[in-house]
Amino acid sequence: NWNELKEQCLNCKKCGLCETRTNVVFGVGNPNAEVMFIGEGPGENEDLQGEPFVGRGGKLLDKMLYSVDLSREENIYIANIVKCRPPKNRDPLLEEQEACIDWLRNQVMIMRPKIIVCLGRIAAMKLIKPDMKITKEHGIFFEKNEVLMMATLHPAALLRNPSNKPAAFEDFLKLRAKIDELNQEA
Ligand code: URA
Ligand code: SF4
Repeated sequence: NWNELKEQCLNCKKCGLCETRTNVVFGVGNPNAEVMFIGEGPGENEDLQGEPFVGRGGKLLDKMLYSVDLSREENIYIANIVKCRPPKNRDPLLEEQEACIDWLRNQVMIMRPKIIVCLGRIAAMKLIKPDMKITKEHGIFFEKNEVLMMATLHPAALLRNPSNKPAAFEDFLKLRAKIDELNQEA
């Protein structure tokens, strides 16, 4: 079950990132939620606090969530492709992603979310398709194993490039509409 999985994950040494981490960042939110958000991997603040998206990018993410009536405490769950911080925030290596992805697969199997939102290119390429072009294909829903999957721009990318914020906001509106649509059918 969920707590056993978390317990095991917090002790994981399946890849080299275990050597340099402070905390394993398992995830945050409501494991009974219908919507899951997946980032790339913990940064410095996340590594120190053991929680995903707690830096400046996290603040922006929380605002965007709030604007469509979602919150990390209540109706979503947030996790990452790799659960330990890559040194100097480099991209996680493919072998690290491969070593770690089973934790996420198990999280998804237990949660059975209806919608998965990939935050940024790395998560989108890993979970949606290897040739994902996030600049063109963000905001589009793909169905995979009966789960609706969509990618949006990474909050850190929006901080670097604020002119992309309206496009990302559109994605969150599409997400809101999709959630409402699913709940109407149910
Ligand atoms: N960036 C990510 O992709 N994930 C985090 O948890 C924090 C920053
Ligand atoms: Fe284990 Fe993932 Fe951390 Fe590697 S990144 S040590 S696989 S939890």
